[in-house]
Amino acid sequence: MRQKKLKYVDETFLQDRNVQTEIKRIELPENRRIALEIGSGKGKFITDIARDHPDDLFIAMEVNMNVCYRIVEKRDAYDLKNLIIILGDAKHILDYVDKHAIDHIYLNFSDPWPKKRHHKRRLTAPAFLACYRRILKDNGTISFRTDHHDFFEDSLIALHGVFRITNVDYDLKRSSYMTEYEEKKRAIGPIYHVDAEVIGHVE
Ligand SMILES: C[S@@+](CC[C@H](N)C(=O)[O-])C[C@H]1O[C@@H](n2cnc3c(N)ncnc32)[C@H](O)[C@@H]1O
Repeated sequence: MRQKKLKYVDETFLQDRNVQTEIKRIELPENRRIALEIGSGKGKFITDIARDHPDDLFIAMEVNMNVCYRIVEKRDAYDLKNLIIILGDAKHILDYVDKHAIDHIYLNFSDPWPKKRHHKRRLTAPAFLACYRRILKDNGTISFRTDHHDFFEDSLIALHGVFRITNVDYDLKRSSYMTEYEEKKRAIGPIYHVDAEVIGHVE
């Protein structure tokens, strides 16, 4: 995501605004539904959902500092008490979240990394999916949406190896919860969406 560099935003600035910037375990409650969005961008999607579901707990993970600050602005504007914001890279997700702690993972318009040699960086690459499986509860679910057809098809295959696919949509209708990218990409073409659920149990 292209984002103008904000000179005043650094790790300390984000820490002071209650963003977790260190790689360390998050204490999560066992009695609440918990959803995690990885690559939240400017946070429209996760803050809109968090505002409408105050009893649930949400986690936004974003690797870009400047973009991450846009999530903070929305969290504060809505006075959200149920949103944890992590400045961090999904490759460390197992260091942040306990096994079997998460009910749902959202991957929205993750970077498509179209060149084959970069496919392992995709947030739906098999190594990432294996980590997601470990942090999801045994009845956990995952959803992924993108405007990029080839990325979508490759992701379906990767998901199929780890999860049970429950819904595939090649022309997702507008909904109450759309990301900044979704708003833009809808003007250009269809949006692809898949829902999947955990199969079996892993340690
Ligand atoms: C194409 S943007 C989409 C942002 C938002 N989900 C949306 O739909 O508007 C992808 C976002 O994922 C973030 N991202 C990419 N790789 C990541 C990673 N490994 N861990 C966390 N965030 C990542 C990028 O910084 C960027 O903000």
